[in-house]
Amino acid sequence: MLDQARELVRAELAESQPRRFSHLQGACRRAEAAAPLFSAEDGRLLVVTALVHDVGYCDSARETGFHPLDGARFLAERGYPARLCDLVAHHSCARLEADLRGLGSELSQWTDERSELRDALWWADMTTSPDGEVVTFKERVAEIQARYGPEDLVSRFIRAAGPELRGAVERTETRLAGLR
Ligand SMILES: [Fe+2]
Repeated sequence: MLDQARELVRAELAESQPRRFSHLQGACRRAEAAAPLFSAEDGRLLVVTALVHDVGYCDSARETGFHPLDGARFLAERGYPARLCDLVAHHSCARLEADLRGLGSELSQWTDERSELRDALWWADMTTSPDGEVVTFKERVAEIQARYGPEDLVSRFIRAAGPELRGAVERTETRLAGLR
């Protein structure tokens, strides 16, 4: 599945949205570092999910304009496992942003598994810059707010989601510290 996912994101994003493509590569590297927290099967799922979590930004996935939802549908249509699609739909506290966009009921058709693996996916996203570099959670949030401006819906979302996102990041970092 990893090779198939690599080919998908390359085809859909490498040329048209190179920054997003870099972000996905970076998040995938973060996921590889967290994979030892899980069984071999779950570790592989985490890595593939991190690699495709933002594929909903690509032109061929665009439907609602809300990338977690568009990405989950796009991947489900291509036969990716239901659990992976659920994780993509709910990545990085998408539920709160869906509510702000009036898409809460559509998102609720997907399941947030609220697990350690889901936390690790959120951590991978929230500690990877748009260019794919490793950043702190604080730097990531500050960059999003600077990029969108304080009044934008995305900035309002990130303020509202802060505690939940930070919780997932801190829980994962505690688990990772236990690995060493
Ligand atoms: Fe992301």
